[in-house]
Amino acid sequence: MDDLPIPLSKNYLQSAISTQYIGRPTLYYKSVTSTNTLGFQAAEIGISHGTVILADHQTAGKGRLGRTWHSPENKNLYFSIVLTKPSSQSVTSWIPLLTGVVLAECLESISALSISLKWPNDVLCHEKKLGGILCEARQKGASNWVCVVGIGININCNKDDFPLELSPTATSLAIESHREYHCHDFLTTFLEKFERKYEHLLNAGIHDLRSQYILRCQTLEQSVLVHDMAGTQLKGQAVSIGDDGALEIVTSENSKSGIITSIRSGDVFHVR
Ligand code: BTN
Repeated sequence: MDDLPIPLSKNYLQSAISTQYIGRPTLYYKSVTSTNTLGFQAAEIGISHGTVILADHQTAGKGRLGRTWHSPENKNLYFSIVLTKPSSQSVTSWIPLLTGVVLAECLESISALSISLKWPNDVLCHEKKLGGILCEARQKGASNWVCVVGIGININCNKDDFPLELSPTATSLAIESHREYHCHDFLTTFLEKFERKYEHLLNAGIHDLRSQYILRCQTLEQSVLVHDMAGTQLKGQAVSIGDDGALEIVTSENSKSGIITSIRSGDVFHVR
């Protein structure tokens, strides 16, 4: 790794959290290209399962579908959880959705705002995007499984911090609730809850998580337009979430037969 981590305000986070492995250690940087990129580099040199990479600023923050993640300095949270203990395909496919549920619960508990999710894991408040999740899993050979869960949450930025093209659709906790928040307190709560839910997913399967996700997911029962990775556009009704976390829709052509199409990735737009 090129950048050297700075000890997080006298190991503030380390002493504040009560997790077994998530956030132990947490490597804190002033500025990085992308915490996800650094997460993969760190995994190559053998960091421990659950290490968190946290930065105040990203110069090349990555979003889903090849987009960039706008990451102004000292305002928001940008971090990645590096999971190196392999999990099954079924667990892996639920990690992004689990992360969305944990974020929504933590954001609601500190702000009293109402937080929902747009499939797969856009974090929304009053229909605007408050945060996003980029989960990247890679496997080199039989044993080198790595999943980097990247999380960006707009905490304290204000309207002027967004580039013009984002201002109609993006928001922050501070904008929505007219006060500022302590990013590291939020992070502590998040990491503890993430570990509990991840352990529950590993031990008990998807049942509870799916119910929690469905309660939060604004996309279900909506008319949607899906742009999939192949450039195809599908229009239909979002009806359920599959065992693999896929969005299940009944397309307009299949509305009579009720045949279900599973969407595993892509951009979903809610059509009114
Ligand atoms: C999205 O497009 O909605 C996903 C955005 C994910 C952004 C976070 S910020 C921390 C981590 N590092 C990155 O480069 N991206 C993720």
